[in-house]
Amino acid sequence: MPSYTAESREEGRARLPIGARTDNWWTAPLSFAIVFGLFVVYVTYRMFENAHYEVHASGLLSPLYSPLLPFKFEVNLPLLGQKMISPAIYILIVPMSFRMSCYYYRKAYYRALFQDPLACGVAEPMAKSRMRYTGERALPFVALNFHRYAFYAAAIFIFILGYDVLLAFRIEDASGVPHFGIGVGTLIFIVNWVLLTGYTFGCHSWRHLIGGGTDCYSCTAISRTRYGLWQKFSLLNSKHAQWAWLSMISVGIADLYVNLVSRGTIPDLHILF
Ligand code: FES
Repeated sequence: MPSYTAESREEGRARLPIGARTDNWWTAPLSFAIVFGLFVVYVTYRMFENAHYEVHASGLLSPLYSPLLPFKFEVNLPLLGQKMISPAIYILIVPMSFRMSCYYYRKAYYRALFQDPLACGVAEPMAKSRMRYTGERALPFVALNFHRYAFYAAAIFIFILGYDVLLAFRIEDASGVPHFGIGVGTLIFIVNWVLLTGYTFGCHSWRHLIGGGTDCYSCTAISRTRYGLWQKFSLLNSKHAQWAWLSMISVGIADLYVNLVSRGTIPDLHILF
């Protein structure tokens, strides 16, 4: 049995010949870099825009600005004067820290952005010049271990966004009286919520919370129940990467829809009203 050390692994990766792996391994990091890059650019723009995040007549509130907070922060900026800080800036701390510390995202952005490693069995272009890899045992990456706490906060957001879905069934008529209705926005919000829920509760931390820390799954009724739940949520977990992708895209689409309807660029089509 060969023994591997951090140094021998580094050496091994550095010595792999470029082009040794001949399948299309590069499509995954490249597509992640493109889609994630577009998402970050769009969300950053929307985060600072602080406008067009609500369509009151259709009960739509952008997931980037949810929940609507009853307070606001202002800062006095040189040249610009008194300015309100966009609430999306501090609201997004929770979902973004949850995603950036997610085990799937870590793998994806280590490969797509840091090229460390690019993929399994692929030479690392800068392996020799890179500072010694310390993994997630030292700063800064050890901080990613707060993921379980980010999960608790993200789970609360699932309930908040679920409430927003209910509000999306409240559509006002021409005289401003609210009725039960279903619009395209309602459907987009439902899909977005389902995808976010599937992503959040497919989290490894959630699986550990419900199924970890026990040596016997069959000993008590509680441990048997926990095992059953663990099995069910493990099904979500087995497709965690797909949930991560789809929920990221659906958040962008939900916000874009609210943005465009709010600007008057497109109407909110009502299917049932
Ligand atoms: S591991 Fe991906 S959300 Fe927790």
